[in-house]
Amino acid sequence: MIGRTFSIVAIVLWVITIATAAVFFIKGQTQMTADNRVAVMLAPEEREFVLAEMRMLLEGVQGITAGVAANDMQQISSSARRIGMASAADVNPQLMMKLPLAFKQQGMSVHKQFDQLADMADSGASANELLTMLSEQLSSCVACHSIYTLEANLVKN
Ligand code: HEC
Repeated sequence: MIGRTFSIVAIVLWVITIATAAVFFIKGQTQMTADNRVAVMLAPEEREFVLAEMRMLLEGVQGITAGVAANDMQQISSSARRIGMASAADVNPQLMMKLPLAFKQQGMSVHKQFDQLADMADSGASANELLTMLSEQLSSCVACHSIYTLEANLVKN
């Protein structure tokens, strides 16, 4: 009887743990800001990590536009590939729990689109087609920036 109660308690605790993890995975750790954006609350080093990734995206975009201007498909392809899905690996699980699901999805889709852009450059798309695709991708950057901001949470958790 006691053994059975224990296993029921263990199962209930397990379900609660999984449910809590799922809620965090979807909602992330956020707070509304005065300018009506969603602030994702991160540890200082996690915020730096995400911002460094952002600067890498900007660098990639710069490489792509320079490539389009010079009609250099090789440069467009390699700049886009550098910020494709391969660069999205290695994000630590703790950070993944703090980012809202929609943020993670938008982030992943941006990386995926850069792989598509690289594929297009590799398969003979015109500079104008590539620029159109890049412009669509920049809309995703703009959209996400209008919704989210990152705040460093100084309290350790
Ligand atoms: C999933 C959401 C999201 C997407 C998609 C996104 N960003 Fe960001 N980016 C952010 C957030 C949030 C910040 C922090 C802004 C703040 O705190 O006000 C940021 C900051 C930046 C910064 C500033 C970096 C620094 O060191 O301060 C740059 C540059 C940047 N993003 C470039 C880009 C570019 C280029 C793209 C598209 C190719 C892009 N981002 C796509 C969410 C996103």
